[in-house]
Amino acid sequence: MKPLHKAIFPVAGLGTRFLPATKSIPKEMLTVVDRPLIQYAVDEAVEAGIDTLIFVTGRSKNAIVDYFDRSPELEAELEAKGKLEALQRVRDVVPPHVKCFYVRQPQPLGLGHAVLCAAELVQDDEPFAVLLPDDLIDAFPTGTLAQMADVHRRHGQAVLALEEVPLSQVHQYGVIRPADKNAHPLQIEGIVEKPRAEEAPSNWSVVGRYILTPDVMTALKTQQPGAGGEIQLTDAIAACLHTGNFVGLPLHGKRFDCGSKRGFLAANMHFGLRETAE
Ligand code: G1P
Repeated sequence: MKPLHKAIFPVAGLGTRFLPATKSIPKEMLTVVDRPLIQYAVDEAVEAGIDTLIFVTGRSKNAIVDYFDRSPELEAELEAKGKLEALQRVRDVVPPHVKCFYVRQPQPLGLGHAVLCAAELVQDDEPFAVLLPDDLIDAFPTGTLAQMADVHRRHGQAVLALEEVPLSQVHQYGVIRPADKNAHPLQIEGIVEKPRAEEAPSNWSVVGRYILTPDVMTALKTQQPGAGGEIQLTDAIAACLHTGNFVGLPLHGKRFDCGSKRGFLAANMHFGLRETAE
């Protein structure tokens, strides 16, 4: 298997919870302090050694494509005016060695389907990361994906980021069944999408960070719709667990669910207060 280089960002969602703002602004472009939400996920991926970003977009998502493009006029103007700090911030959006690709998800058929839309850009012997920008994580000592990439590099395994949640919340997440509750990382024996509390295999929920092996992409090609009538990434992972090659890494840090107004606001408070601290 090749080393990890590519990350998929599913960003085709409608962002209905943030309407009317998301009528014309993709939810991934809403700002947490002074940077769009998607920038945090991209920075996390680049920190983990990713150099190929694949955005799975949809209609009215052109602002994302424009954002990651170079802006020669703006850069020239900032340079001419000597605003070098601002210029650096514009240039830092994506480092020069990082390439961006865009594919469209023509219909909202689920997270698994969104990932499958990127299949042509990922080779058959290549692992890939998936980052859901709604999950914004303030992690330590490094970003979450960098910690996961470390585990992946050592053993070539697929790695999922995990967080313990109250049983009353498991219905919102993919939930795993660990083999040995005290192992580190946790060996994943089972996984189910959005179970009812009484059916949940544990309270370890999947956070929106995955490093996946090529067999998952293959499984997605024939994956039937599951929870909510959608093609679920969780189900394709479940189909591959028999390899014994899937581990879960508990989150080190704080996760903000920026898909909800409360989580988005909490993220703005958290990062905003830190950035403006005296
Ligand atoms: C998705 C995944 C789910 C995962 C969650 C993390 O759900 O399907 O398994 O736990 O992201 O945020 P969604 O939030 O898109 O419903």
